[in-house]
Amino acid sequence: MSLTPTSTDTLPTAVLEALHSALQTAPNAARALPAACYRDATVHALEQQAIFGSEWIPLAHVSQLPKAGDFVTVDVGDEPLIVTRGKDGRIRVLSRICQHRGVDMLPDKAARHCGQGNTPLLRCPYHLWNYDLTGQLIAAPEMAGSTCHAMEKVKLPEFRSEIAEGFIFVTFKASSPPLASVLHALSSGYLAKYGLAEAEVVWAQHWECDFNWKVLAENFMEPYHHLGAHRTTLQPFLPARFCATEPGADEHHMAVRLPLEAGIRARIKETGQAEPGFTPFPSLDLADHLDWWVTMAFPVFLLFLAPDRAFWYRLLPTGPETCSLLTTMLVHPEAKNAPDYAEQLARAEQEAIAFHMEDMEICSAIQRGVRGRGYTRGALSPLEEPLLHIQRYLARRLAPPAHTPIFSMTA
Ligand code: FES
Ligand SMILES: [Fe+2]
Repeated sequence: MSLTPTSTDTLPTAVLEALHSALQTAPNAARALPAACYRDATVHALEQQAIFGSEWIPLAHVSQLPKAGDFVTVDVGDEPLIVTRGKDGRIRVLSRICQHRGVDMLPDKAARHCGQGNTPLLRCPYHLWNYDLTGQLIAAPEMAGSTCHAMEKVKLPEFRSEIAEGFIFVTFKASSPPLASVLHALSSGYLAKYGLAEAEVVWAQHWECDFNWKVLAENFMEPYHHLGAHRTTLQPFLPARFCATEPGADEHHMAVRLPLEAGIRARIKETGQAEPGFTPFPSLDLADHLDWWVTMAFPVFLLFLAPDRAFWYRLLPTGPETCSLLTTMLVHPEAKNAPDYAEQLARAEQEAIAFHMEDMEICSAIQRGVRGRGYTRGALSPLEEPLLHIQRYLARRLAPPAHTPIFSMTA
């Protein structure tokens, strides 16, 4: 990750104080973060080291790589990666750095975060060294004369990866706890019944964003902005006022319940019928059709769950004031058998883009705001409680107080 040595000592004082106070602050006394959290190079460098270089980071869903040879490319910080499915069916997260002279084997900037395809091998464009999908070097032209080259010993580095709920995660830290233990509360409490491991990504769109990653994460998790930013799209059926952060938020996850509008709930209960849409996730019962959810496993596993579709956002910082975002939609495979599936999908894509554009516009506007002298740490609504949980997470990762080994996580 970042080569800049960083530590808590280098964090701006305002950031340190804000993060430490978040650990003690009640949700009804919470305030927005200082502007430096969204702009400062030392905050970004420390995040790269203590968060993105250490935690489990989701990279892809298994349905994006169904066949041998399928791959997805993505950069995590300065680490160029390729997720491959080998002939043995195994998914691996490999470095894209050629073991000859260090070329990123996919130099096309546009494809770094959204490359996807199928290939029998990985070929470096510089001198044409070839690797198989396990990362093993299998051909290196004109190298016979080298006395220090042993083909069988050359492999692309493979990073530790695990799969949960169908999502492929990577960690660069050997001592990270198993992914299943990190996701346990989120999976058992919320995700398991959606069967996301069987779901398929049916829409994906990549966005280069001109705002800090936390702007998007905060925006994703708080439903308060349905009132303004989504007043004609989400607010009519997911009204902000009734949304609530679940009490069990902890150091790994949080979840927010978004109840459907009262008239829609009454209709579902009365008719016993789900709302029109894709074929719903089959393990849900009728009560599950009354709410949508947003969930987050720290730092960036973001899901927006409806009874018939799930939106997974893959969010990765690319700089102090920029990030890369892949928005995706998943449905149960059964949904594809509906006679009007093509029209349903087109409509769902349009809706997703419409509400996402509203978020993009607001997030860019926030980033402009945090650059100005007029920025202040405004008071948060109780509907913005998720922001406090993000602040507490950041405090624990970036600025753990030396003499407070156990933090109160009560809401
Ligand atoms: S740097 Fe890749 S083959 Fe030379
Ligand atoms: Fe939004």
